[in-house]
Amino acid sequence: MVTIATERLVLRPLVGADAAHLHATLFCDPVVCRHFCGPTWSLEEVTNWVGYHRLDTRWGDIGYLAIVRRADDGVLGVAGLRPYVANWTALQATSGAGVAHLETELSYALGQDHWGQGYATEACGALVHYAFETLRLPRIAYGVHVDNTRSWQLMKRLGFRFVRHEQPTNWDSVVGILDHPAMRPAAD
Ligand SMILES: CC(C)(COP(=O)(O)OP(=O)(O)OC[C@H]1O[C@@H](n2cnc3c(N)ncnc32)[C@H](O)[C@@H]1OP(=O)(O)O)[C@@H](O)C(=O)NCCC(=O)NCCS
Repeated sequence: MVTIATERLVLRPLVGADAAHLHATLFCDPVVCRHFCGPTWSLEEVTNWVGYHRLDTRWGDIGYLAIVRRADDGVLGVAGLRPYVANWTALQATSGAGVAHLETELSYALGQDHWGQGYATEACGALVHYAFETLRLPRIAYGVHVDNTRSWQLMKRLGFRFVRHEQPTNWDSVVGILDHPAMRPAAD
């Protein structure tokens, strides 16, 4: 997978040395973890997670990338495109088969010290551009918990539309969809 540069950030593949930093800034913080990974994680778990996701981006076109600030090389968090088995799409099936679609989701987390500065909008905007312009994906679909206000505000800033979730889980009571620009209905 490519490295993606924006005005203030670089999104680059994870490296082993990221584990300790991501543990301290994301995975140790119950506020960040609540909607991202559930309970807080040990350093060993984060090291395994980084090792696993490094392979995603080494061999594939999607996966988690480190969000790095260009000014000081600080690692602010992670963002990535991920496969997403979307059970809510089964309910939309017109054939009545109730078969779920495999979607692509956008996933992200920033250390709390870096919230409120537009970094997530900048990083995720670049990933959306990559998803549509390089990968030519038809759409990105993503489930968010209704209490995760910052996350669905971010999705609104990125242009996601929200649809009703008939059978929400603990993770996804709101479903956002962002269609490829060529597949959006023409404005009146
Ligand atoms: C979701 C998450 C990444 C959003 O972070 P965030 O700081 O709200 O989002 P951004 O970095 O885009 O910053 C937006 C804020 O910066 C402000 N801002 C400043 N400069 C900006 C710029 N250049 N562009 C956009 N916004 C800017 C915006 O007005 C907004 O302000 P607000 O906090 O008063 O609403 C963060 O809350 C998080 O990591 N949460 C825990 C993990 C998580 O829930 N992940 C998603 C699971 S569904």
